[in-house]
Amino acid sequence: MKYVEKRGKEYIPSKKGKQISLAEKNVYQQANKPILFWEKLAKKGIDWIKPFTKTYEQKGNSFSWFKDGQLNLCYNAVDRNLGNPDTPAIIFIPENPKEKKQVISYFELYKKVNQAAALLKKEGIQKGDVVAIYMPPISEALIFMLACARIGAIHSIVFSAFSPDALRTRIKDGKAKLLITSNYYYRKGIKVNLIKNAKKACRRIKIKKIIIDRAKTGQFFKENKFEIIKPEPMNAEDIAFILYTSGTTGKPKGVMHAVGGYTVQAYWSCRYIFNLKRNETMWCTADIGWITGHTYACYGPLLNNATTILYEGFPIYPKEDRFMKIIKQNKVNVFYTAPTALRLFAMKDQGYTKKYNLDSLKVLGTVGEPIDQATWNWFFKKVGRSRCPLIDTYWQTETGSAMLTSLAGHGPFIPSYAGKPFPGVTYAVINNKSKKLKANKEGLLVQLPPFCPSLIRGVWNDKKRYGGYFLNGTYLAGDNCFYDSKGNFRILGRSDDIIKVAGHRMSTAEIENAITSLPKVVEAAIVGKPDKIRGAVPVAFIKVKRKISKEKILDIVSKKIGPIAKPAEIYFVNDIPKTRSGKMMRRILKSLLQGEEIKNTTTMINPKSIQEIQEILKKK
Ligand code: WTA
Repeated sequence: MKYVEKRGKEYIPSKKGKQISLAEKNVYQQANKPILFWEKLAKKGIDWIKPFTKTYEQKGNSFSWFKDGQLNLCYNAVDRNLGNPDTPAIIFIPENPKEKKQVISYFELYKKVNQAAALLKKEGIQKGDVVAIYMPPISEALIFMLACARIGAIHSIVFSAFSPDALRTRIKDGKAKLLITSNYYYRKGIKVNLIKNAKKACRRIKIKKIIIDRAKTGQFFKENKFEIIKPEPMNAEDIAFILYTSGTTGKPKGVMHAVGGYTVQAYWSCRYIFNLKRNETMWCTADIGWITGHTYACYGPLLNNATTILYEGFPIYPKEDRFMKIIKQNKVNVFYTAPTALRLFAMKDQGYTKKYNLDSLKVLGTVGEPIDQATWNWFFKKVGRSRCPLIDTYWQTETGSAMLTSLAGHGPFIPSYAGKPFPGVTYAVINNKSKKLKANKEGLLVQLPPFCPSLIRGVWNDKKRYGGYFLNGTYLAGDNCFYDSKGNFRILGRSDDIIKVAGHRMSTAEIENAITSLPKVVEAAIVGKPDKIRGAVPVAFIKVKRKISKEKILDIVSKKIGPIAKPAEIYFVNDIPKTRSGKMMRRILKSLLQGEEIKNTTTMINPKSIQEIQEILKKK
C-alpha cells in the first residue's frame, strides 16, 4: 500500500494515506483555539477519575493544565485496555537472536504491573517517593515504570550506559529511596555487568534495591495469583516522573513532568503523528533512559492499546540487517529511530535492504538530531520503499512529546525539515532582542503560551534553573531554527553548549568538569565536531600543569559520565582562547577544528592562542 506521493521536492499523503489518517482533516483549524482544543482532547482521549473543570492557568512561568482533575497514567496505559486482554502489549527481543522473544499480553502486563506495584509498596514506597531505575530495555523496566505510575511514585530512569558516578549524582539529587537494576545485559554480544556499577554508585548511600536477573527476564513476576493494587488518584499537576538531562552547566537537571498534561499529550501525539491504531505495533528504538523511550517506547503506544517492541541490544548485531529482521518478524507498523542509527544502517548497505519484505510498515520516524538529506532519502527509499511517510520529529526532554513534526496523514514530508508545530502548540523564531522573525530568517526557537500540556513543570530541587528556560514570556528551546513560507520549521542545531553525540544529549560543561577534576589539569574546553555516523563527537582542548596521558583523560570521562561521552580527539594546548572577561571561546575552537579562518580577535585576551592551536591541528 502506498501512503505517500511526490509533489515537487516534497512528499504528501496519498489518497489512501489521507483516508487512514487518525488526525481529522481540519485538525489544525480545530487547534486555532489551543486551550479549547486540548480540553476536548483531554476529555476524549483519557479516562479521568475526577473530571477537570479548570483547563489552563498561567501566572508568569508557572502554568497548569487540567488542574482540578484526577487521573492515573498506569490505569490509562494498562487497565483500560483490558477489554483487549490478549493483544501483545510488550514484545521483548533479546540481543542474541538465538534467545527466544517474549510476548506479554495486556492481561499479563496488568498482572505483572500489579505485582510490581505490590512489591514497591512492600518496600515502603509511597506516593511522591523517587524510585531510580537503572536498567537495560527489558520488559521489567517498563513494568516497574508503570508500577511507579500506578502508586504515584516518581520514577527517575538513568540510562544504563551511564557510569556509577553519573548514577550516584542522580540518585543523590533525586533523594531516591529505591534502586531497581538488573545484574547484566547484552550489548554487541558482550555481557555488561550492570550490578557492579550500581553497587559502586550506591556506596555509603542508604537505598533499597531490587535486582532483576537478566537470565530470567519476563519471569520476575511469574505467580498467577495477584493482588489488585488500586491505581492512585493523582492530581493532574502531580509529578509523573523526573528525567535527568544535560544542561549548559556541569550539573544535570531533573526535568519534572506533570501527570495530566503528559498523559494527554503522550496519547494524542502518538495517535496523530504516527497514526498508531489499537493492535498495531510500534518500534521506537530509543533506550528507556531517554525521553523518547519514555514517551514512544512505553507510554505512547500503551496508552493507545498498541504493541511496543523493546529490543535489548545494538541495532546492527549480529549483522547489519538485524533491524530489518525485527521489523519483518514482528510485522512492525511504525518504525521510529535516530539519524545516527540510520547512518550506520546506510553505511553498511550493500544490498541487504532488498532481501526483506517490509510491507507491514506504515510510518517511519526520526528524532534526536537534524537528519541530512542523503540519510533521509536512504531511509525513505530503502526502508519505506517510497511508500511510507517519513516524519522528522523535533522535541526535547523538556517538552515530553514531539513538538515540530508533520502528521502521518497530513504531511508534508520534506527532507531536513521537521515540519509544523503539533496542533495546539505554538512556536516562533526570535532574534536576541526577543523580536519575532519572519519566514526564512534564522534565529532562536521559542514556544509561545499557552504552553503545551506536556511541557516541563519544574527542575527537581532547583527552582532557579526552571526560570532559566523562559525568556520574555516564551519557553526558550536552545535551538537555532528558521521556518519556510509555509510554516515548516527547519532545525539548524543547538544555540548553546549542548552537543548531540549519536543522538545522546551531552553537556560540554559536564565533560569539562570531569576532565578538570584531574589535579594535573588546569582547564578544559569541549566542543562538538561533525561526525559522519554519530552526528557530532566531543573534542577536548586541555591545558595542563604537568604532563598527563590521553588515556587518563578518557578514563576520567568514562568514570564520571560514561564511555559515550569520551572525547574523540584530545589536544593539549598552552592556552585556551578566551574573552577579556575570561570566558572560554568555544565557537573559535569549533571554527579552528573546521579549518576556518578566524578574523575578528578584538574581543580576545589571548589571540596568540589561535596560532598555536592551528599549528597543533595542522600536525595531526
Ligand atoms: C535535538 C530528544 C533536529 C535538539 C527528543 C533538541 C533535534 C535536543 C531533533 C533535545 C530533530 C531533537 N531535528 N534536532 N528532529 N530532535 N533534536 O532532550 O537540539 O535528548 O533541543 O530530546 O535534540 O534532546 P533530548
